[in-house]
Amino acid sequence: MLVLGIDTSCDDTSASIVENDTKIISNIISNQTDIHKKYGGIVPELASRRHIEMIWPVVDEALKTAGVKFDELSGVAVCHGPGLIGSLLVGCSFAKALCYSKKIPLVAVNHLEGHIFSSFLEEPRPSFPCIALIASGGHTCLYRADNFGKYKELGRTRDDAAGEAYDKVSKLLGLGYPGGPIIEKYAREGNPKAIDFPRAYLPESFDFSFSGLKTAVLNFVKRNELSVMSKGASPVTHHPLLNDIAASFQKSIVDVLVRKTEWAIKKEHIKRVILSGGVAANSELRKRMKEMGDEKEAEIFMPSVSLCTDNAAMIAAAGYHHLKAGNIAGLDLNPKAYLPL
Ligand code: KG4
Ligand code: ZN
Repeated sequence: MLVLGIDTSCDDTSASIVENDTKIISNIISNQTDIHKKYGGIVPELASRRHIEMIWPVVDEALKTAGVKFDELSGVAVCHGPGLIGSLLVGCSFAKALCYSKKIPLVAVNHLEGHIFSSFLEEPRPSFPCIALIASGGHTCLYRADNFGKYKELGRTRDDAAGEAYDKVSKLLGLGYPGGPIIEKYAREGNPKAIDFPRAYLPESFDFSFSGLKTAVLNFVKRNELSVMSKGASPVTHHPLLNDIAASFQKSIVDVLVRKTEWAIKKEHIKRVILSGGVAANSELRKRMKEMGDEKEAEIFMPSVSLCTDNAAMIAAAGYHHLKAGNIAGLDLNPKAYLPL
C-alpha cells in the first residue's frame, strides 16, 4: 500500500509517501524557523498562513520525488490533532479536498500516534508491547503501547512540555529559537553538576512538570544579574556561566525523562522503549537512555533525528494501519487542538 501522509500540526509543513508502515519513499519537510525565530517562539497565525502557501508545493514535491501518481495511492493520512488549530485546519482541508476530487480514502491520524510509529520506519524495528516516551515542544507523555490502537497513557506533563522548557529557557537567556538544539550546543561545553536545578520527580506518578525548572533558571539568571533579552538587554551569549546553566538545565530534564521511563519499564514489566518527539533528537538524552537500557537490559528504539521531529512519514505509517483496519474518515472530519490518544 502507498500512503500519502500530511502533517501541518505545528510549524512544519510536511508530506510523505510511505509504503506500508515501513518504507519511506519520500519525506518532504518545509520548516518555518526563519519566520518564528525573531519572536522566540511559534506565532500561530503566521504558522497557518505559511502552511497555506506551502501545502501544495510540499505535497507536489513528495509525489514527484517518489514518482507516484494520485491514482496509485491507497489512501491519504492526515494529522487531525492535537496541535495548533489554524495549522491543523490547513492540512485537513487540503487532504479532504484531495480525497474528494481524486476519490481516495481519507484516514485521520493522531499526531502522538504518528510519533509512536516513527520508530517503525527504520531498522531495527520495535515490536509491541512497548513503552513509548514522546517528548516534544507540545507534548511530554509516557504510554504503554500494546498494539496498533491500544495505547494506555501512563503520564503526561502537568504544565510545560520538555521541548517547551528548552524553548523558554533559551528565550530567557536570549539565545534564540528553537531552544533545544541551541541549549544542547552550549551544554556540551558546560558542567552539568555546576548548578543544582530542581527535578520534579512527582513520586508515585508518571506525570511530568517542567515549569518549576524554568522558573528556577529564571531566578538564577536574576540572582546572578545576567542580562536577559526579554528586558531589552543584550543576550548573555558570552557569559562565562552560560555553558554551565545550559548543561545543568539539560541534566535536570534528562534525569527526569530517563528516570520516569525506567520506572515505566519496571512497573509495566516491558523491556522495550520507543523514544520520539523533537527532544528525542537530543544527544545527551539518547546517550543516557541507551545507558539506562543497557543497565536494565531493555531495548531502546530511537528514530534518526529527522524522524524524531515532526514529519509526515510517521503520519503515513500510522495511517497505513488505519487503512488496513478500515478506519476511513468522512469528509466532515474536523481537526482538534486537544485530542487524547
Ligand atoms: O516534535 P517537534 O518537532 O514538534 C512538536 O510536536 O512540538 O518538537 C519540537 C521541539 C522544540 O521544543 C525543540 O526545542 C525541541 O523539540 N528540540 C530539542 C532538540 N531538537 C529539537 N530539544 C532538545 N534537544 C534537541 N537537540
Ligand atoms: Zn510532534
